[in-house]
Amino acid sequence: MMAGILTGLFGNKAVADPIAIGKGKAVVVYYSWSPDGNTRFAAQTIAKRLDAELFEIKAEKPYPTEYPACTKEAKPECQAKTLRAIQPIAGLDLKKYAAVFVGTPNWWGTMAPPVRTWVTQNTAALKGKAVCLFQTNGGGGMQRVGKDFGELLPESKVLPPAAFSGSRIKSSVKDLEKFIDERIAVKSDDGWDKVFPKSEKVEHAKVTFTTRFGLTLAADLYKPKGATGRLAAIAVSGPFGAVKEQSSGLYAQTLAERGFLTIAFDPSFTGESSGTPRYVASPDINTEDFQAAVDYLVSRDDVDSERIGILGVCGWGGLAINAAAIDTRVKATVAVTMYDMSRVTAKGYNDSADTPAARKAMREAMNAQRTADFKGGTVMYAAVLPNPEDLTDDTPQFVKDYVSFYKTPRGFHKRSPGSTTGWAVSAGLSLLNTKLLAYAGEIETPVLLVHGEKAHSRYFSEYAFEKMTGVAVKGESKKVGNKELLIVPGAVHCDLYDDVAGVIPHDRIAAFFRESL
Ligand SMILES: Cc1cc2nc3c(=O)[nH]c(=O)nc-3n(C[C@H](O)[C@H](O)[C@H](O)COP(=O)(O)O)c2cc1C
Repeated sequence: MMAGILTGLFGNKAVADPIAIGKGKAVVVYYSWSPDGNTRFAAQTIAKRLDAELFEIKAEKPYPTEYPACTKEAKPECQAKTLRAIQPIAGLDLKKYAAVFVGTPNWWGTMAPPVRTWVTQNTAALKGKAVCLFQTNGGGGMQRVGKDFGELLPESKVLPPAAFSGSRIKSSVKDLEKFIDERIAVKSDDGWDKVFPKSEKVEHAKVTFTTRFGLTLAADLYKPKGATGRLAAIAVSGPFGAVKEQSSGLYAQTLAERGFLTIAFDPSFTGESSGTPRYVASPDINTEDFQAAVDYLVSRDDVDSERIGILGVCGWGGLAINAAAIDTRVKATVAVTMYDMSRVTAKGYNDSADTPAARKAMREAMNAQRTADFKGGTVMYAAVLPNPEDLTDDTPQFVKDYVSFYKTPRGFHKRSPGSTTGWAVSAGLSLLNTKLLAYAGEIETPVLLVHGEKAHSRYFSEYAFEKMTGVAVKGESKKVGNKELLIVPGAVHCDLYDDVAGVIPHDRIAAFFRESL
């Protein structure tokens, strides 16, 4: 066999199409022991090809530097699958990545124990991600390394592993690059400004339309490639504080892959849509945003105006339900990880500040800011989320989850108020004084509520479901008539913002729209 050629593909499985990921969404983690640093060299080459960050696993107590002493210590550990203690890896946050490459030397036919420890410690964090093993060896090839690795990751998308000859690794750069290219396609910065990778299955275009209040909304339109005739169409927005380049675009593109014409739009006063001041919210204006999106969709020649759906994420889930209650052109509605923004503004999280005095204090503060804004000719913004470096052990987990989405490469977008300035301080005034979901009980069309079992916000969907059906629920999926609550096991609020955790039930949502439209 040629020097350094790719050997020992696990089970000789053919490599399917490479998985498309965004720039910065891959990471390489490796362990290397020998002074030659064979696995280190492979890891560096792979990281360079992927333009990825590189992290080293280190044993807490290093193995002896002499081969006989090392092997004396390592052999029983490999045979017993011992989890040798490792040092924490500073700065490695797996939430940021869609693809994780793990490198190990072949030790006694399996992974080096520090690698087994690292994988075992991170099995949950690697759930849903594309994970791929590469190993270097002294001539034994793959042996059990790939199999043992895959067995530790039952809930990851384990890509076919590869084995490389350690002694020939320095002349194997082309093979290492081929190994990567067959598995991962990193989308280059071709003007694509979304936080999720572009799908090759859909056409994408920018469109605009005006609302009944005269504001111009900007949207990304996604259409299945080669589609003909009039399609069922879906308007998507949210989360509250996000822009169309984040979650709404991902949902819209994924639904287009499944045959729908979709738009993800920026709400009034947000992103590329018009309206000043920036980053203010209104239950009425933002419900109208959905209706304006429906105006736009029903007017297109390639849309079946009788088959229009809407999908809202987080705060936009509540607005979608409100829009479904008023707009009889909307034939089906999905609210994902729904927030009722008026309720949380007026009553606090979990209704913990539901008193007239608490609301009075908010009214006074927001009106004082209003006066100051008017007099000064400026608008005061306040980021509600801390920066990643300011998180402490006391920061609530759901805040950490928001930070991990909005403020790291995973979901950061320069136009997103959640990622940057936050909302105008006075933005809550309308939310504080108007109740969303007032007529949710009168929605006759199908509604699917999707919520994570472990989400701090689950009570919003449960309340909406009860309001629409009269049936109380707690933590379980339920269907009553054409209203359904789908609970995603184990998921937290932000797991439904993107595909990092791999738990968004895209097929189920598409099936709901297919059945309902
Ligand atoms: C403790 C130990 C056990 C090893 N066991 C095997 C083996 O079972 N099969 C094999 O092909 N190579 C084996 N090797 C050789 C290494 O896998 C190979 O030299 C590798 O490229 C070293 O990578 P590194 O430079 O990153 O440490 C072993 C090496 C050591 C130190």
